[in-house]
Amino acid sequence: MARIIKGNPIAGTMERVVISLGGSIIIPGDRDGGFIKRLASLLRDLSKDRELFVVCGGGKTARTYINLGRELDVSEERLDEMGIMATRLNARLLQLALGDLAEQTVPSTIEEATEQAGKGRIVVMGGTTPGHTTDGVSAALAEAVGADRIVNATSVDAVYSSDPRKDKDAERYERLTFQQLKDLLGNEHGAGASGVFDPMGASIVMRSRIPLMVIAGRDLEEMSRAVQGLPIKGTVIDGR
Ligand code: UTP
Repeated sequence: MARIIKGNPIAGTMERVVISLGGSIIIPGDRDGGFIKRLASLLRDLSKDRELFVVCGGGKTARTYINLGRELDVSEERLDEMGIMATRLNARLLQLALGDLAEQTVPSTIEEATEQAGKGRIVVMGGTTPGHTTDGVSAALAEAVGADRIVNATSVDAVYSSDPRKDKDAERYERLTFQQLKDLLGNEHGAGASGVFDPMGASIVMRSRIPLMVIAGRDLEEMSRAVQGLPIKGTVIDGR
């Protein structure tokens, strides 16, 4: 699904890849600026041959505010809004780490992100609308820009039959169809909910048949392979 890049006759056609970068990958616990530098450097290399779009999750920051707000009986919609702010804060941090390589405004809608595409810089955003997650945003963005694949850089290393951190007998999948992924995910959403991919996002990748790769986001070699469409250790979800 590569396309002609306007105003760049030498590049001709370039792939487009959306990375859904889990908040726990950007802010794992303690500060880890070294990781963000290495990530930025990898994205710099990968963006030479393809157009990159990164959608940042809210991670621990989002959960801290959502949990505090919930104690204060704040509505789910207002909690989601705080979650979105946390995702945009993470997006801004990554933009700053990327410097000139990235657009320096965090788009607040898919339309704004689409307008930033095709200019030779990495597009970095967070959430958009209450009731969604950044996985859902990644899928909607991938559909809007005609992406070749989505890489879901997450805190588990693949899709499992149940949460491997809680269930030692969880089955690990190398490959799934879109329908199998949807069946595994069900359709729950609550502010701060965490599954391996958002059910709404799964419906979007299924209807537009956008391959999805689920990988351990802290493993930068794995991320490099996934973004390039090379074989990975994680799970490939496609139309097979
Ligand atoms: P995340 O996408 O980070 O959700 O957004 P998550 O499920 O906690 O994902 P991980 O664990 O980082 O991978 C954080 C929260 O922000 C709100 C939701 O409340 C979500 O749980 N949010 C985010 C929205 O309401 N809309 C969005 O478009 C994005």
